[in-house]
Amino acid sequence: MDKHQWNLPGMRGRAPEYRCETDVSEGLEAVALAEMRARLGRLARFSSTVAEGAGVVAFTYDGDLRILLKLQTVQAVYLLEHFAVARPKALLGDQHFRRLLALCETVLSLHPGGTCKTLVINAAGSDSSVMVRLKNELAQRLGLSAGADEGDLLLRLRPTPTHAQAGDGGGWDALVRLTPRPLATRAWRVCNYEGALNGAVAHAIVRLTRPDARDAFLNIACGSGTLLIERLAAGPARQVIGCDIDPRALACAQRNIDAAGATGRVALCSADARALPLPDHSADALCADLPFGHLVGSHADNVHSYPLILREAARIARPGARFGLITHEARLMEQLLADTGNPWRVQQVLRVELGGLHPRIFVLTRREKDV
Ligand SMILES: C[S@@+](CC[C@H](N)C(=O)[O-])C[C@H]1O[C@@H](n2cnc3c(N)ncnc32)[C@H](O)[C@@H]1O
Repeated sequence: MDKHQWNLPGMRGRAPEYRCETDVSEGLEAVALAEMRARLGRLARFSSTVAEGAGVVAFTYDGDLRILLKLQTVQAVYLLEHFAVARPKALLGDQHFRRLLALCETVLSLHPGGTCKTLVINAAGSDSSVMVRLKNELAQRLGLSAGADEGDLLLRLRPTPTHAQAGDGGGWDALVRLTPRPLATRAWRVCNYEGALNGAVAHAIVRLTRPDARDAFLNIACGSGTLLIERLAAGPARQVIGCDIDPRALACAQRNIDAAGATGRVALCSADARALPLPDHSADALCADLPFGHLVGSHADNVHSYPLILREAARIARPGARFGLITHEARLMEQLLADTGNPWRVQQVLRVELGGLHPRIFVLTRREKDV
């Protein structure tokens, strides 16, 4: 208890300090950290070591929790509390249970009443009688129903990781997701498309092209428009164009663009990425989520088309233009980029986790001159 804290009328009370954790696609921790630092400023303090590949960025925060709902490169964000208990059963005890309830209520208060209807617990042994009792009692006190697999209010329970343990050692962490769905599940996605890119990963790729308001931005093989919509979400652009060979993809992209409130801000063109109807040196930034050869296309197609697509992109890119490209064809891309005469300079290669696969994000810039 801080007995020297003055609290006079007219003085602002001290903002609570929250412990927060974000789930991030493995490999994108640095990109997410950069977004969080830019958006949250001094309200957030990050641990000095954000492990590359850990899939998590933890921080303490004393701002408005609603600001965290705007993060675009993270999969989900959680409010965390540590409980110095040996077993989850102790969370049913009055004092701990009230803290757990307060944690859930803080999250519920961020949304209009009725947004959350169900509660689920995600934990090892979530079917055990203790967990089921905990879920039922919390749900009842919060006026929610206890869900089976999916829930609007998600409570994760886990033993406190060794590196984060307080002096007393051990204990359990309770993490409540701040939103009924992961943040990466975009509200604008009204048209689902096979092979559509995860929204947070798409946003990270866009950020790696260092978006600028003067950009003419081209998304090659745009599919259902994820990278186009995320580009607009990252800030204004002079022009945004998406091309795809499949008219069904373009129809799907248009529906998503309309749902994102971006009607008229994106031009879509039906064209083959190997021969695009765009002038030389006209694009400042480019993105592509090329067919992986898993859900869309085949490896043999890729061996044939990737060199042609890279060359066509280089024709349209102005010297110095930035290109963010994601593909599972890592070896093929590495071979093409190592080739003498390749017009692209490799700035960065990130190995990311995406739905159980490990594609690479290549961040390229257009060489000033063809070699
Ligand atoms: C992995 S999907 C892109 C998904 C997209 N990022 C999204 O979120 O919906 C690859 C896309 O490449 C397109 N494509 C394949 N070959 C193409 C080509 N030669 N020219 C243009 N588009 C092509 C496919 O129609 C498909 O929409």
